[in-house]
Amino acid sequence: MDKLVINGGKSLHGNVDISGAKNAAVAILPAALMASKDVCIIDNIPDIEDVHCLERIIESLGCEIKVNKNSVTIDSSILNSHDANTEDVRKMRASYYLIGALLGRFKKARVEMPGGCPIGVRPIDQHIKGFEALGAKVTIEHGVVIVEADKLIGTSIFFDVVSVGATINVMLAATFAEGTTTLENVAKEPHIVDVANFLNSMGANIKGAGTDIIRVTGVQELKGCSYSVIPDQIEAGTYMIAAAACGGEVTITNVIPKHLESISAKLIEMGAEIIENGDSVTVKSNKNLKGVNVKTLPYPGFPTDVQQPMSALLCASKGRSLINESIWESRFKHVDELKKMGANIKVEGRTAIIDGADRLTGATVKATDLRAGAAMVIAGLIAEGTTEVLNIEHIDRGYPHIENKFNSLGANIKRITVK
Ligand code: EPU
Repeated sequence: MDKLVINGGKSLHGNVDISGAKNAAVAILPAALMASKDVCIIDNIPDIEDVHCLERIIESLGCEIKVNKNSVTIDSSILNSHDANTEDVRKMRASYYLIGALLGRFKKARVEMPGGCPIGVRPIDQHIKGFEALGAKVTIEHGVVIVEADKLIGTSIFFDVVSVGATINVMLAATFAEGTTTLENVAKEPHIVDVANFLNSMGANIKGAGTDIIRVTGVQELKGCSYSVIPDQIEAGTYMIAAAACGGEVTITNVIPKHLESISAKLIEMGAEIIENGDSVTVKSNKNLKGVNVKTLPYPGFPTDVQQPMSALLCASKGRSLINESIWESRFKHVDELKKMGANIKVEGRTAIIDGADRLTGATVKATDLRAGAAMVIAGLIAEGTTEVLNIEHIDRGYPHIENKFNSLGANIKRITVK
């Protein structure tokens, strides 16, 4: 197991290139299983453990998969299994997309219940509601989700809650339903649009992704295509926040600035300067930032996945900040770790109350989940002295080469293997 050792207090300068979006890639890889002809060549795939995990699952299902740096080629024409039951499936959240993809292609799927970060209760009732509305029978036996249908028939589905996973999963299955499926109260995150674009490149007929209503007209067959995954909004937001927190001038390249607007707006409100330029965003900060209030919301609101990194910045900003976490009820596990570094932060229900501290000091802390890990890295970069971040397997699930990227900006982070 590795740990990160951070010598804090350095300002950040230079350029950092953002990788492909994790939450798009982990849906697009299972979606590729729906092509029964030709290969899918998918570029800009991030080099992270969640992707490696899915690649192993896809191989274990009998597909041919070749990985060349950030490009993955999948031949799923030879796929004949609808049964995804390996340890890897249990490890990650996005394995639930195997249900929609396999149900669509084979009209049946057997997939272990998905795992994922411990950030709150993570039901899949809305996924199940969508599959059932399309005509599937869903049972859960011994921790395995079993979904079967004679045929899938297009229908209207109004989701009870806005869910990224349910929107994508039902969109996958509906791609092979007879007639048109209308999905309402859907998620509008950039990765929803990316998955729809990928499916359309394979021959699907999906309209309205990114708006409140998605219409999927079923097709008989999908075939392989070449596709490039969008840049990671959350990775970009994490580096923007780190630049604001440490001071200096950092240009974050290979981004879609429109996807970052809610984050840019908060950083500007705090006193940082943000310059958008084509596919890059520059953050200039003198570290003299003031606290703000943040409420996490579905896109285009402030992303829950950036809440934890943001809280590290707010711990070192002037005055009082309030964070309201409206998506995940347990996404404050990093708070106790921040306190070890001198942060004045307390949690009441779904709200964290932060009184900015004059300084944070290095300590040994844990990454309790993926974005908590990013928060601890940012806190370590701000803090005086040395911070050791343990349990960084969480960070490796979603941030490619985090120490190299930060070190290229002037940070001092070492990865050490703990025996
Ligand atoms: N929900 C239900 N029923 C469902 C599905 C969701 O009640 O069937 C609730 C959840 O409990 C939650 C809310 O709806 O309160 C939103 O959940 P959503 O389904 O949107 O989350 P998810 O699909 O499980 C994805 C990302 C998360 C990100 C959320 C919200 C992936 C693999 N994961 O999760 O990303 O926080 O959307 O944007 O795409 C991360 O990257 O660190 C991460 C946790």
